Amino acid sequence: MNETMEAILERRSTRHYTAEDVTEEQLSLVLEAGLWAPTARNRQEVKIAVARDKAWRARFRAAFSEADGRPAFANFDFDCPVFLFLYGEKDFPYIEIDSGIVVENMAIAAQSLGLGTVIIGCIRDFLRSEAGAPWRADIGMTDEDLFTVGLCIGHIERPTKKQERKEGRIKYL
Ligand SMILES: Cc1cc2nc3c(=O)[nH]c(=O)nc-3n(C[C@H](O)[C@H](O)[C@H](O)COP(=O)(O)O)c2cc1C
Repeated sequence: MNETMEAILERRSTRHYTAEDVTEEQLSLVLEAGLWAPTARNRQEVKIAVARDKAWRARFRAAFSEADGRPAFANFDFDCPVFLFLYGEKDFPYIEIDSGIVVENMAIAAQSLGLGTVIIGCIRDFLRSEAGAPWRADIGMTDEDLFTVGLCIGHIERPTKKQERKEGRIKYL
């Protein structure tokens, strides 16, 4: 099996990170993989905000958790060293698809570097709500932007068990 297939098949969602930081070199490679993802009409509307500041992140987590109320998501970012917010032009019809492609490119790139990731959708409603307005401003989003998805990146402390894939999802015409 080649290395790309291995990275795709071996990647799991990491929810336990060590305290070790992600280096600037690792981060810039992951971001590069995001920037080189294909985008609809080559519009390249997906923007990525890098959040490393743990104090700001703790405040954001508290605000999200209070508004959201689901205990399972209270520690949505698992104290990972780097959290990425993806967002972009809300009127662009492919913004969510493009974000999905960008985020997966980054997840696979991180895997190839020996890092763990988990894609985060649970903060979406909060970041699209009225209560999320000050946080959108902090992230650098404008009123024209829509938050799409987040990504935790860090060193894997505890590997995640492989979840079997459902059968019968491919049909040959
Ligand atoms: C769009 C999207 C949103 C997700 N949101 C969350 C989330 O908010 N919290 C979380 O822990 N995992 C989240 N995940 C991770 C999935 O739960 C995970 O990919 C799935 O359980 C399969 O596990 P695996 O990635 O280890 O193969 C999300 C994944 C995707 C693709």
